[in-house]
Amino acid sequence: MVLPGGIDPHTHLQLPFMGTRSADDFLRGTQAALAGGTTTIIDFAIPQKGGSLLDAFDTWRRWADPKVCCDYSLHVAVTWWSEQVKEEMAILAQEKGVNSFKMFMAYKDLFMLRDPELYAAFEQCKETGAIAQVHAENGDIIAEGAKKMLALGVTGPEGHALCRPEAVEAEATLRAITLASAVNCPLYVVHVMSKSAAKVIADARRAGKVVYGEPIAASLGTDGTHYWSKEWHHAAHHVMSPPLRPDPSTPGFLMNLLANDDLTTTATDHCTFNTCQKALGKDDFTKIPNGVNGVEDRMSIVWEKGVTISAKTHHQAVNFNIFEGMVCHGVPLVTISRGKVVYEEGALSVTPGHGKFIPRRPFAEYVYKRIQQRDQTCTPTPVERAPYKGEVITLTSRE
Ligand code: URP
Ligand code: ZN
Ligand code: ZN
Ligand code: ZN
Repeated sequence: MVLPGGIDPHTHLQLPFMGTRSADDFLRGTQAALAGGTTTIIDFAIPQKGGSLLDAFDTWRRWADPKVCCDYSLHVAVTWWSEQVKEEMAILAQEKGVNSFKMFMAYKDLFMLRDPELYAAFEQCKETGAIAQVHAENGDIIAEGAKKMLALGVTGPEGHALCRPEAVEAEATLRAITLASAVNCPLYVVHVMSKSAAKVIADARRAGKVVYGEPIAASLGTDGTHYWSKEWHHAAHHVMSPPLRPDPSTPGFLMNLLANDDLTTTATDHCTFNTCQKALGKDDFTKIPNGVNGVEDRMSIVWEKGVTISAKTHHQAVNFNIFEGMVCHGVPLVTISRGKVVYEEGALSVTPGHGKFIPRRPFAEYVYKRIQQRDQTCTPTPVERAPYKGEVITLTSRE
C-alpha cells in the first residue's frame, strides 16, 4: 500500500523539562519519525514564564533547522500572560507561520495558566486566526493530590496516576471548552488520555462547539496498568501527563471515537527520557520527567498489527519502548520525503537538514469557516424597548 507520509502533530524533541532534556533530539527524533513513515512533525516552542515567545520560536528554529531529517512546523506555548505575549502572538501568526498556541492547565508554578489568562489567550487566538490548544488537567488538584500521596508513603510511579484521576482531566477539558466557547475560539485538546475526557469532547462536538480531540499512540496502544508494575523502571517509563488510564478498555474506546470523528487527529506527544533520566524521581514520583515514546510507532499502532516493536531495534534514542513486544501488521517498508527515498529495508539514508520548516497560515478555512458562521448566527442582539421612565431609588453609602 502507498500512503501519504504521516504527520505527527505533537512532539517534544530535545525539550528542556523537569531538570533534564528529552533524549530524542531533532536528529534522532526525525530519523525515527521517517523510519515509522512520518514525514512531518509539529513540535512546540515553549518559553519559560516571563520569557519572549519570539525568542523561544527562534531558539527552536535554531535547534531544529540544521538537524531535522523530516519536515517540521512549530506550535508556540503561552506560559504566562502580558501585553507583550499578546503582541508576540500576533507577530507569530502574521509573520512566522504559527497558527496554533498551546496553553497548560497543569504544571502548577511552571507553565500553568489561570482561567482569566486562558480567557485572554483564547481571545487573542481568535483575533489572530489561530487555534488554541490545551493541556487539560486541573493543576491545583494534582498539586494537592501529589502531597497527599507522598504523605501516605506512595512515592512510586503509581502515585503519579493516583493523584490525577480521570475527573481531573475531564473537568479541565470541560472548563477549556466552556472558556473557548465563550469567546468563540476554536479549541484543540492535546493528548486525550481518558474515556471521561473523550466523552466531554464528543458531547461538545454534538452541541456544535468547534473543538477537536487528539488521542496519542500511547493512549490508543497501551494503558495505565503498567504503573503498578513491580519493576520501578518499567512503571516509570510510562509516566506522562495526563497519565495512561488503568481502565484497560480505554484504548478501544478512544479508537472507536476516532473512527466516529468524535476525536480527530492522532499524535504521540513524543517526549522521551532514558532510564537514568527517569531515575531523577526514584524516591519521589513528582520528580520523574514526564513523557513517553511514539514518533516511530504511531502509524503502526494506529493501523495496527505486524512486526514486533522493540527498543532493541527502534530508531528512537530512548532505551525503552512502551509498545515493547506488541505485534502489528502494517509497517513502513519505504519512506519517501521531498521526493527522496530516505528509509528502505530498515536503513536510513538522509542528511541532517534535509527537512524544511513548514509555515502555516492563520484563519485556516477548515477551522475558521464554522467560527465565522457562528459569529454571524450566535452574536446576541439587544431587545428593543421603550426606556424606563419611572422612579429610581438613590443609593446611600451604607446601602
Ligand atoms: O508528559 C508529557 N505529556 N510530557 C510532555 C509535555 C506535555 O505536557 O505535553
Ligand atoms: Zn501537555
Ligand atoms: Zn507493564
Ligand atoms: Zn506534549
